[in-house]
Amino acid sequence: MNVAIIGLGYVGAVTAGCLAKLGRTVIGVDSDPYKAAAIAEGRSPISEPGLDELLGEAVARGRLSVASVGAAVESSDVIMVAVGTPSARSGSLDLSAVHRVVEEIGAALPHDGRFRTVVMRSTVLPGTTDEQVRPRLEERSGLRAGIDFGLATNPEFLRESSSIRDFFDASRTVIGADDDRSAEAVRHVYEGVKAPTFVVPIRTSEMVKYTDNAFHAVKIAFANEIASFARAHGVDGREVMRIMASDDRLNISPAYLRPGYAFGGSCLPKDLRAITDRARKSEVDVPLLTAALASNTVHFERGVQLVEATGARRVALVGLSFKSSTDDLRESPAVALAERLLGRGYELSIYDDDIHPDRLRGANRAFMDAHLPHLGQLLARSLDAAISDSDVVVVTKVWSDVEGLGDCMREDQVLVDLAGGPAAWAERGDRYIGIGW
Ligand SMILES: NC(=O)c1ccc[n+]([C@@H]2O[C@H](COP(=O)([O-])OP(=O)(O)OC[C@H]3O[C@@H](n4cnc5c(N)ncnc54)[C@H](O)[C@@H]3O)[C@@H](O)[C@H]2O)c1
Repeated sequence: MNVAIIGLGYVGAVTAGCLAKLGRTVIGVDSDPYKAAAIAEGRSPISEPGLDELLGEAVARGRLSVASVGAAVESSDVIMVAVGTPSARSGSLDLSAVHRVVEEIGAALPHDGRFRTVVMRSTVLPGTTDEQVRPRLEERSGLRAGIDFGLATNPEFLRESSSIRDFFDASRTVIGADDDRSAEAVRHVYEGVKAPTFVVPIRTSEMVKYTDNAFHAVKIAFANEIASFARAHGVDGREVMRIMASDDRLNISPAYLRPGYAFGGSCLPKDLRAITDRARKSEVDVPLLTAALASNTVHFERGVQLVEATGARRVALVGLSFKSSTDDLRESPAVALAERLLGRGYELSIYDDDIHPDRLRGANRAFMDAHLPHLGQLLARSLDAAISDSDVVVVTKVWSDVEGLGDCMREDQVLVDLAGGPAAWAERGDRYIGIGW
């Protein structure tokens, strides 16, 4: 298999060396004559452990060479784009190098019946490949993506300084493709690398890359804010974070990383308020922690807006406590949602099999009395009773009773899913609205 790599910077040079090592024949292209000459001589144009040796060996074995875009495209099965996508002044993505390169590739795609796949390896925002790369390739080549040539994405997750190890010991390979042939072409490129492979729609793959980097940035900022707060209180933040990170059930795990509705309950909002209040008084800036509360409020409002946008006036709220298998109503976003809808004149019925108003006690009872004093009148005895007279059903948590909800709803009822219920719910088509999916 012949692979062209256009753009031989950090990503392109490493990919070129590693693919050559895997046995592919690689043709590199770079508009910078210094980088092109270095690669052609088997030298690394960048400082990266092990790369000089890898490129030297690849060139010596005849597995890596440098050419023009035209020649590289002509003789390749897969054409990877790895040019830079830096920030423009406004912070937006500067796609000028991507535009230039894909126009050149489009113009160079031969009409010879050979199926070549163009693969975006550069980091681009969701929709870029579809809206900016595909039309340029099609227009310049006069060919159709997915039919005459392939189009795919393959985001890069390497870390500079350990990029060669990251390539061969990858945590995963992500392939974005909207047709099978394009996906297969990229799969072949990685034959020999053992890593879980995700083949997803192009937009999903583009989003995954940004999600990774946003998460990494949030993790670092979080650790630094916690450590700054800790230091101001005579505590070693390194020790705190070490202990925090040792919990692989709730902390370093998929827990709390499943999108749903706003957080609530008797601890998270209260403790975040306490720590951010103390930070303010101790003159420690913790913008990320402060923003978590603001973010939660914004997310709560998204739920309200989804219900309002249906135009319905009769709402069934399924789930009232802040999570399944508890009757704790304190700071439950579902209670706030109920209050808001009642305040705006909606007809509301509520179903939650964890809630029995006569059994609520103490602070929980006081919270209910303050926020939903007429809860008893709103609560339905069964799911059917709750939804029968409603136009829209809003789910804030999922438990076994609720999983089959899609089957017992009328055709005309809208299901607003704030909890991430079973995939079958989406079969309602435009009568199903998810908050983040
Ligand atoms: N550096 C990283 O650690 C890393 C990791 C993952 C993803 N990425 C992403 O990968 C992409 C490339 O990043 P990089 O760090 O390798 O960039 P880079 O600036 O090091 O390399 C880009 C290369 O593309 C070349 N180029 C630009 N226009 C060209 C053209 N018209 N024809 C041929 N070559 C051209 C440049 O000369 C340069 O050598 C970016 O989208 C980046 O966000 C980078």
